[in-house]
Amino acid sequence: MKIAADDPSSTAPGAAPIRPIVIAANRLPVMRDNTTENGWAPSPGGLVRALLPMLRSSGGTWVGWTGTPDDPTEPFTVDGVDCYPIDISAKEVELYYEGFSNDGLWPLYHDALRESTYDIAQWEAYQRVNERFAITLANIAPPNAIVWIHDYQLQLVPAMLRQQRPDITIGFFLHIPFPPYELFSRLPWRNEIIDGLLGCDLIGFQRPKGATNFAACASQLRKSDIGENVIHNAGHRTELGVFPISIDFAEVEEMAAGRATRKLTSQIRTRLGDPEVILLGVDRLDYTKGIGLRLRAFGALLESGELDPERCVMVQVATPTREAVEHYQDERREIERLVGEINGRFSRIGLPVIHYLYQTLSYDDLIALYRAGDVMLVTPFRDGMNLVAKEYAAAHIDGDGVLVLSEFAGAADELTDAVLVNPHDDRALQESIVTAVEMHRHERRARMAGLREQVKRMDVQGWADRFYAALARAAENQ
Ligand code: G6P
Repeated sequence: MKIAADDPSSTAPGAAPIRPIVIAANRLPVMRDNTTENGWAPSPGGLVRALLPMLRSSGGTWVGWTGTPDDPTEPFTVDGVDCYPIDISAKEVELYYEGFSNDGLWPLYHDALRESTYDIAQWEAYQRVNERFAITLANIAPPNAIVWIHDYQLQLVPAMLRQQRPDITIGFFLHIPFPPYELFSRLPWRNEIIDGLLGCDLIGFQRPKGATNFAACASQLRKSDIGENVIHNAGHRTELGVFPISIDFAEVEEMAAGRATRKLTSQIRTRLGDPEVILLGVDRLDYTKGIGLRLRAFGALLESGELDPERCVMVQVATPTREAVEHYQDERREIERLVGEINGRFSRIGLPVIHYLYQTLSYDDLIALYRAGDVMLVTPFRDGMNLVAKEYAAAHIDGDGVLVLSEFAGAADELTDAVLVNPHDDRALQESIVTAVEMHRHERRARMAGLREQVKRMDVQGWADRFYAALARAAENQ
């Protein structure tokens, strides 16, 4: 099978679908937060940050969880988007969300970087919650609607929904990698997951490899008939496509250009002691992100004298996530131990070499930090896309700044003007940090221009338009 990323010129920009749209994702765009004025805060992660601007502009409905267990909330509207909360009990949060989704599927889909748990009670809860999503979608989707389901938490929903509502068009987008057969086949419920996804008219992946891996699994496990970008199974056809997700470039640029951001950016530099080079990391605190590796590389360069602790400062934002899952607790302990160790060794009074924030920052604060960052370190072991890399480029309206990017992030396919690195290779990682810090201004500017051009050309609206256009074609071909 041949799978290429969709040509950006194939859809008229802003070609919003005329059919009603319903989005389903594990999380609603907002989560409960008692500390804010209206009791809601933006949900974490790149998925929500990408989908919200797209849905805001096209109008639509969003089905998902409020992030609080046992929270039977009535439908409400936020930012022009109608939200339908799905109630998830505390036990289901433990089994479906922390368990099956984040301690089973998440590590398996990320190169088995940690051991997965396979547990029947977790699987049953996953089925139950997926069923609840499918029933809600079947009840609220208007006739002729397009339902767009997102990510690994909801892979059974497409087939469940198709059974109840054969009239609607169903698309699915996987935000994380789809693993090769050798890993996927470990999953005791591998057949059910493939069957769930084959309920779609179109499945979208971040990278071509995700699509070919999925096709290979469908062929091996379900003996499906594989054509060019299409799978035939039990009388139904499912198209596959590649749609690298992106950001709202114009929005980030506008925020970065604002007076408040400029002021905040210069305050950040001053507060950091006016260093020559600010190295920046911004991630959810996840073991896939390679935060420890990056800290170790920074420490080794200070130790060897290749970086000067009086000239360089590192800022690492690690957003709290999935804190009840043990692998995440272990990762946090290790990161905090490393921060302590490196700071203890190289800091001066009032001037730590690493500023570590285990916090959820507002988008405004993040954009100001991106602007302050001279070198951005995005070094995951495996990542579906990584929108932080794209946000950094969009925020650098000054045309300066260097991005060090792991080859194992989906973004590496497009952001070829970054300093690309294999993060498993310690020495290569250290060298790429030094290259970034010492890069000549002309080269920095040329690379940043290339990064910005790429992100601008392939922004989130284009991503959604291309997906919808492909979904409409898939429905016609059905
Ligand atoms: C990644 C996943 C999303 C998820 C987000 C935040 O981006 O692909 O599905 O929503 O992380 O993680 P959380 O577990 O807090 O929803």
